[in-house]
Amino acid sequence: MTVRTSDIEKAAGVLRGGGLVALPTETVYGLGANAEDPAAVARIFQVKGRPPSHPLIVHISGAEYLDDWVQDVPATARLLAEHFWPGPLTLVLRRGRRVPLEATGGLETVAVRVPDHPVALALLSAFGGGVTAPSANRFGSVSPTTAAHVRAELGDAVDFVLDGGPCDIGVESTIVDATGEVPSILRPGGVTREALEAVLGCPISVPSTSLVRVPGQHPSHYAPRARVILVEPEKVASEAELAQEQGHQVGVLLPPACAGAAVKAHAVVALPGSMAAYARGLYGFLRELDQQGCDLIVASLPVEEGLGLAIANRLRRAAGPRPTV
Ligand code: TXA
Ligand code: MG
Repeated sequence: MTVRTSDIEKAAGVLRGGGLVALPTETVYGLGANAEDPAAVARIFQVKGRPPSHPLIVHISGAEYLDDWVQDVPATARLLAEHFWPGPLTLVLRRGRRVPLEATGGLETVAVRVPDHPVALALLSAFGGGVTAPSANRFGSVSPTTAAHVRAELGDAVDFVLDGGPCDIGVESTIVDATGEVPSILRPGGVTREALEAVLGCPISVPSTSLVRVPGQHPSHYAPRARVILVEPEKVASEAELAQEQGHQVGVLLPPACAGAAVKAHAVVALPGSMAAYARGLYGFLRELDQQGCDLIVASLPVEEGLGLAIANRLRRAAGPRPTV
C-alpha cells in the first residue's frame, strides 16, 4: 500500500502542531506524538486511558541518531542496534536530556527503536525528530494491526491516521534492557530470542514464563472483550464444547494439530501452521471473535521458540485476571 507524500507532510505538520498521528509500523500501529512536546505526550496517555507511569517508546529514523536521545551506550547495545535496526527491536538505555520525563513515566531510562516500515520512516524523516508511540489501542486491549482497527478503537481522538496496510509482523517489538553490558529481554516480540543470541554469542534471559493458569501472575493486557482461557492443545476442542454446552458463546483458536476437527462452538479460527502467519494474524483473530459475539475464547499456547515465545506471552497476558472495576 502506498501513502501519498502529501499525507506524510500533513502528518508531520500534525506532529509539529502538537497533534496525534496513528502510524503503521512493521509490528503494530502506533499512536504517535512529538517526543519533545510534553503536552502532546500527555494527550497520548489521555487518549489511551493509560496510567502516566507507563513509559513510551521513542521512534527514530536511524541508528545514527541514537546518541541524540540516549547517553552511555554500551558496546552491546550498539551491536544490537547495528544488527537489528530498522526492525522490531526496542532498546532501553539511559535517557538523554532531549527526552522529557513525561515520555518515560519518570524513569531515567528510555526505550528507543527504528521501525522497519517505509511509511513510518518517511514520517520520521519528514518530521525530523523523535516520535513517541505506544500501540494505538485503549490501555489493556488488543493492539491494532490495521488502520481500520485504529479507527474503530480510537475514532476522532486521533488527529490523523496514516494507512500503510496490514502490519507484517503483527506482534510488538522485542524490548531489551541494554543499559548494562549484559542485556536481557523485558518483553518478547518480533526479534526472536534465538536471533538475539546468535548476534550476542551468548544466552539472553527472558522474563519468567510460569505455568498457564497461575492466578494473579499475569495482569490482563493485550486482551479482547471475551474472557480467554488457556488449555492443553489436545483439550481445546473438548473444553470449548463443554463451555458452549454450559451456555457460553465460545470462540476457539484451533491449533494446526487439530485442523479439520469439527468443534461445536460459536466461532472457530483455524490457526495457520507457520508462527509468522500466526503472529501476523493473532490480534485480528481475537478482534474477530469479539466481533462475532463470543464471551469466552479457548486457546492453547504454541511451542515457545521463535515467534512462539511472543505469541505465548500475549496469550498469557490476554488470559490474565481482569481488573474488577
Ligand atoms: O512494536 C512496538 O513496540 C509498538 C510499536 C508502535 O512500535 N509499540 C509498543 O508500545 O508496543 P507500547 O507502549 O504498547 O509498549 C511499550 C512497552 C511498555 O510495556 C513499556 O512498559 C515498555 O515498553 N517500556 C518503555 N520504556 C521503558 C523503559 N524505560 N524501561 C522499561 N520498559 C519500558
Ligand atoms: Mg501496547
